[in-house]
Amino acid sequence: MTEPSLRGSLWLHDADLRRYRPLTASTRADVLVVGAGMTGLLTAARLADNGLDVVVVDAGPVGGRNTALSTGNLYAPVSRMADLVARWGGDTATRVVQWRQQAVRSIESLVHRYDLRCGFQRVTMQYGVQERSRDATAAFERELQAYQRVGLSCDHRQSGLPFALGHAFQIPDQAQLDPAAFCQELAQHLVGRVRVHDWTQIVDIDAAAGIARTPDCSIRARHFVLATHSPAGFNLVQAEMEVYREYAVAVPVRDMPAPGVHWIADRQRSLRGVRGTDGRHWLVLVGETHRTGETPATDPAQRLIDDAQRNFRVEGEPMCWSAQQFRSADQLPYIGGSAHDNVWVATGYGPDGLTWAGVAARMIAEGIQGSSNEMDGVLSPMRFTPVRSAAGWLRTNATVARHMVGDRLAAASAGTAQTLAPGCGALLAVDGKRTAVYRDDAGTLHAMSPLCPHLKCVVQWNGHERTWDCPCHGSRFSATGQLLEGPAKQGLTPQTL
Ligand code: FES
Repeated sequence: MTEPSLRGSLWLHDADLRRYRPLTASTRADVLVVGAGMTGLLTAARLADNGLDVVVVDAGPVGGRNTALSTGNLYAPVSRMADLVARWGGDTATRVVQWRQQAVRSIESLVHRYDLRCGFQRVTMQYGVQERSRDATAAFERELQAYQRVGLSCDHRQSGLPFALGHAFQIPDQAQLDPAAFCQELAQHLVGRVRVHDWTQIVDIDAAAGIARTPDCSIRARHFVLATHSPAGFNLVQAEMEVYREYAVAVPVRDMPAPGVHWIADRQRSLRGVRGTDGRHWLVLVGETHRTGETPATDPAQRLIDDAQRNFRVEGEPMCWSAQQFRSADQLPYIGGSAHDNVWVATGYGPDGLTWAGVAARMIAEGIQGSSNEMDGVLSPMRFTPVRSAAGWLRTNATVARHMVGDRLAAASAGTAQTLAPGCGALLAVDGKRTAVYRDDAGTLHAMSPLCPHLKCVVQWNGHERTWDCPCHGSRFSATGQLLEGPAKQGLTPQTL
């Protein structure tokens, strides 16, 4: 596997990622967990505590992929609480918040149990809007009522930002950590009870036969946990999810915001302060999004940097990165057993992923051990919720149809490979065939089939990240065609120019 595009996540900036041994010989286990991020490791920890023999594999480094691209925020509410209450009712929304509170507590107890050095701290979460307009005020009131409806205590104060909010409230007892450090530390403490193998890609799972294969060997297991952000290959949940890129920047600042999670809803901005290992104060600012495969011409990260410079005293160069978001059709993730009794999935976390990872770990571990729990009916990937999902399904399927059909009929760009600038990619007509062409910084041209190996949508160039992104289900490929993230299981097919 190729090193994924991890442009400068603050958590990876000076992280010393421990290497484990890739799996090279066939083996057996009770459970194979695919993915060594937050979901995979938390699940493995629970299973190992109950005496199961667990193997964890990851196609990249432990905790170094999607988990390391998150904010490190852990909180009980979900984004758009009022929508959740309207869609699912107050009682279910209350239980969802309680499950998430339990998940944060279980992560905290692991931190204390193993003394994990990951910067875990309990903090307040501030929800606010910057405007005082009638619309902003109404939206704020609606959200406040939803928070109160699900039993969250809301304190009408605002604090800790260098600009005033129009309205704000705070909820206590949320948490923050360094997600990459958490995974690295937890994995080290699991070694001896859990077999961890990094840089090991699963290329196929035959659920009926109970066998998973890497390019070199196989793993026989009773259960398979797909903790890969989105299940690789074909899975029905992919037809129900919208896929977005969300951008983040970390900028060194003179004065940090007050400790805690700050969510500015009408600006679509989340921010937090972090004291770096170098002693500097970092502002982490998150918020610009677009559909994967529909990259805007202007750089979303630059808008975040402009925001930071307007509101904080910036004292150095920013780091920029982005992460994939899989949003479910009915606002809740898909966690639990799949069409195969022995295959467990966890995906569709939306922007609230880290805490969902803790929910998923409990739910999947309990499911594997044969106990049912009240989360099954609500979060099951097999649920059928036509009323709650209708709008999401329509959006998703319209997007896929538009790209699957429309992009194939679209003409290639008018340019030629000769005129392509270094560092740029484009879909060009080569010998009458549309071809994905990239010119690297040294001037060498690389040509690939533009058809995504998953279900043959046409990939699109993302010039801000130098990747080829598939607009249908979110597979991403490096500029030269190597697979970065699925559901595709292989890279773009090279072509000659
Ligand atoms: Fe499904 Fe590309 S990710 S077609």
